[in-house]
Amino acid sequence: MAEVVTLRPGTLADVPGLRALGEAVVPPTYGPIDAAYAQRMLDEWWVPDRFAASLERNAHVVAELDGRVVAMANLGRLRSSHRDFPHVTGDREVMWKLYVHPDHQGRGLGRRLLGEVEALVEGDELWLEVVDGNEQAFGFYEAHGFEVVERVAGDPWPDDVWMRKALR
Ligand SMILES: CC(C)(COP(=O)(O)OP(=O)(O)OC[C@H]1O[C@@H](n2cnc3c(N)ncnc32)[C@H](O)[C@@H]1OP(=O)(O)O)[C@@H](O)C(=O)NCCC(=O)NCCS
Repeated sequence: MAEVVTLRPGTLADVPGLRALGEAVVPPTYGPIDAAYAQRMLDEWWVPDRFAASLERNAHVVAELDGRVVAMANLGRLRSSHRDFPHVTGDREVMWKLYVHPDHQGRGLGRRLLGEVEALVEGDELWLEVVDGNEQAFGFYEAHGFEVVERVAGDPWPDDVWMRKALR
């Protein structure tokens, strides 16, 4: 029987599932680029407190299969972020995360989640950051209409490449 993956809004109850997704997807994605950076991501950003704060201010969509979170995406405003972006004037609607479990990649889940996030955008453009060297994600975003706008030095970490897609 075909797998039925359900998309729904994320809630605080998903925090353990989101952490487990991070443990599965972050090391293979970022380890080959910079192993220390991959560990830092898990330790600083894929932790319960950070998810709880993010769930309060960002919209989350999770993909669930047999009670497990197999993919997620979120959307928020740059000005609501805990991070500083001195290179940006004004605000941006940003997809901060789009992650599909390695066992479920290549089956259309990334495309479905991106579609859900685009539907939530209030303005006419969607922004995101890709870590320099994440060629798989970069190719996916280019294939889905995103264009590179700028590169932000991450020294000593990898650079962030900002991409934007015009909607509507
Ligand atoms: C990048 C990622 C989100 C894509 O999701 P996915 O579920 O694997 O991709 P999908 O199966 O939805 O792909 C949909 C379409 O994009 C195309 N595509 C996927 N990756 C591509 C790539 N690297 N280059 C070009 N096209 C690509 C597919 O061929 C497919 O095309 P189709 O609709 O014509 O069949 C997913 O692989 C992932 O989570 N990677 C690791 C984590 C990560 O890097 N996240 C992004 C952080 S910025």
